[in-house]
Formats: sequence, structure tokens, C-alpha cells
Amino acid sequence: MKKILVTGGAGFIGSNFVRMALSEHPDCFIVNLDKLTYAGNLENLAGFENHPNHKFVKGDICDGPLIEKIINEHKIDAIINFAAESHVDRSISEPKVFIETNVVGTLTLLEAARDKKLERFVQISTDEVYGELGPTGKFTEDTPLSPNSPYSASKAAADHLVKAFGHTWGLKYNITRCSNNYGQYQFPEKMIPLMINNALKDKDLPVYGDGLQVRDWLFVYDHCTAIWMVLSEAPPGQIYNIGGCNEKTNLEVVSLILDRLKKPKSLIKHVKDRPGHDRRYAIEAKKIMTNLKWEPSVNFEEGINKTIDWFLQNNKWLTNIVSGDYQKYYDAMYSNR
Ligand code: NAD
Ligand code: TYD
Repeated sequence: MKKILVTGGAGFIGSNFVRMALSEHPDCFIVNLDKLTYAGNLENLAGFENHPNHKFVKGDICDGPLIEKIINEHKIDAIINFAAESHVDRSISEPKVFIETNVVGTLTLLEAARDKKLERFVQISTDEVYGELGPTGKFTEDTPLSPNSPYSASKAAADHLVKAFGHTWGLKYNITRCSNNYGQYQFPEKMIPLMINNALKDKDLPVYGDGLQVRDWLFVYDHCTAIWMVLSEAPPGQIYNIGGCNEKTNLEVVSLILDRLKKPKSLIKHVKDRPGHDRRYAIEAKKIMTNLKWEPSVNFEEGINKTIDWFLQNNKWLTNIVSGDYQKYYDAMYSNR
């Protein structure tokens, strides 16, 4: 039985990973440590709360004694660190908490893991650590790190710390760098669920600047299967880019959402751009596809259809979120834009 400490497992990608792992890998036991910030939501784990191979612990990755206790008590074999502050716009308004969780929190986990002879420490990073691309080319694992936002700078710092613990203390680690994810349970501050939510309510869809920025979209389930493969098959010390070869401009994505929901394009509203907005991301995922034989299960058209269907069928989940503090966030971010 593989015993895994998953951090941030009540967030978007973490909860999808917990669901996938418990459904498809009955030989794993997961301790799920999450602080339940605004982005953490126990409803994301509905149906798995009482799973015999799942234990949820509310706590902070900056709490070293708690991490040590969990590792010792459950004889943890591996840590997968999803826990993070994850939204670029919030990192521009309030960068400090990004350093606390993404940098100090990762350091705290590394210190707790250092002498425990864990089989693996998997750091869930992002393609945003590489900075931005011009109209051509892709990020490879050898692209130098050149982060542009407080969010991506904090994630790059964490990547450097993970590598340093490997180099200095022999920690067996992997780092995964994934492109933009979309799918079920994504918090509606991120572009795709925000646009779906607004379109459903016939509200304006706030497209930053000219909307010609490019992101390389990956269906969240496919990200989760890639992480599982890295955890179980990758040699230590390797870094893997994960991407779905689905480059789209933001305007293309928004138009597709409006078409699927049969809403008019007149809902699109160009608003003031994000400061320092990265123009284009694109992932070269050849290494994970060749070495670990990973491949995505869906293309963008299929993935976005599944995602829209999920949001239509889970209106209560969305209503519960947007009826809370979300409205205050939305007004602060968009009312004078
Ligand atoms: P999310 O914001 O939806 O979830 C983050 C989770 O971490 C939440 O449940 C939150 O409660 C928890 N958390 C935050 N601070 C914590 C702390 N101090 N201690 C314990 N738990 C804490 O984020 P996500 O989109 O699921 O992203 C997960 C990871 O994947 C992040 O590390 C992010 O950088 C990375 N990533 C995300 C994307 C994407 O498109 N969403 C793409 C590439 C990489
Ligand atoms: P986002 O989901 O915030 O991810 P990231 O900034 O990490 O790539 O944004 C995806 C793209 O959508 C990005 O180019 C910014 C743009 N965007 C908008 O145009 N309007 C919005 O309201 C949001 C949230 C994002």
C-alpha cells in the first residue's frame, strides 16, 4: 500500500487527483492536508469523505510539527505538493501570502521530508515559471526560469528549493510543470469557469486587453494521470513538462463557451489588461510522452464540452461559491476595470 501525503487536496487539481487516485488505484492511502483557504472546498471531495483509504486533515503546510506528525503517524512514502496560492491576479493585489504558502510552505514540507527517506517528493509546479513566449517556440524542461508575476516567481523559488534539497540532501524528488488546467471543480476566479458562470447569468465576459493572449489548455483529469505516472514510474531528480497541445487565444476559448451555451458574442467585453500579462505559453511535452508513455485522453473540444456539461449539472456547487465572499472579490477586481 502506497501511503501518500497530498497537500491542497481540497482545491481544484488536488481534489481531482484524490478522486482519480482513490477510484483507479485501490492500493493507495491518502492523507489530504488542506488549510481550506477561499479556494479549498470540502464539496470538491463529495462522495470521498468517508472513503476508507482517505483521511482529511485541516492544516497549513507552514506547520512543520503537524507535517512531521502526519509523516510519522501514517508512515508516509511520498508527498505530492499541490497546496498553493494559485491565482495570478490575486498575486498582483496581495503578493505576500504567495511567498508564505508557495515558498515558506514548500520549504517547511521539504524540511519535514528531508530525513525521512521518503520514496518521493513531487512538486506540482507550473509552466509559468518559464516566463512568456513570443509567437513561436515552446517551453522545454531546459528553458531557463524567468517568471514574470509574483505567483510565478513564488513557484519558481519553490522549484529551486526542491532541486536544492535533492542536490544537498539527496531528497528523491520530481517537479512537474503543467500548462493551464480546466475541468470540474475549478474555482470561478480562473478564466474558463468565470466565463461559464457569467455567460450562464447573461453577464459581461471580461476579456483582458485584446484577448489574443495564448494559453495551452489541459483537461484536469489528464494532468492527474500524468502526475500519477511521475509518482510511480519516473526516476528521481527528473522534471517533466505536462501539456495537451491545445494552444488557443482567450477570445477563441470565450467564443467557444458562448457558442456551446447559445449565448450572444455581444456579451464579450474587453477590459483593462492585467499588468505584466504574459502573452503566450506553450508546452513541449515530448519527454513525459516518450519516457513515461503518458498521453492526454481528450482534445480541447471534448474536454470543454465535458466541463460545460459538468457546470450545467452542478449548478448548486457553483451557486454555493458565488453566493459567498466571491462577489466581493469579483466587485473589487472587475467593477472599475
Ligand atoms: P487551487 O487554488 O484551486 O487550490 C489550492 C489548494 O491549496 C486549496 O484547497 C487551498 O485551500 C490549499 N492551500 C492554500 N494554501 C495552503 C496552505 N498554506 N496549507 C495547506 N493548504 C493550502 O489551485 P489549483 O488550481 O488546484 O492548483 C494546484 C497546484 O497546481 C498549485 O500548486 C498550482 O501552482 C499548480 N498549477 C495549477 C495550474 C492551473 O491551471 N490551475 C496549472 C499548473 C500548475
Ligand atoms: P487565468 O485562468 O487567470 O490563468 P493564468 O493567468 O494563470 O494563465 O487566465 C487565463 C487567461 O485568461 C490569461 O491570459 C488571463 C485571461 N483572463 C481574462 O481575459 N479575463 C479574466 O477575467 C480572467 C480571470 C483571465
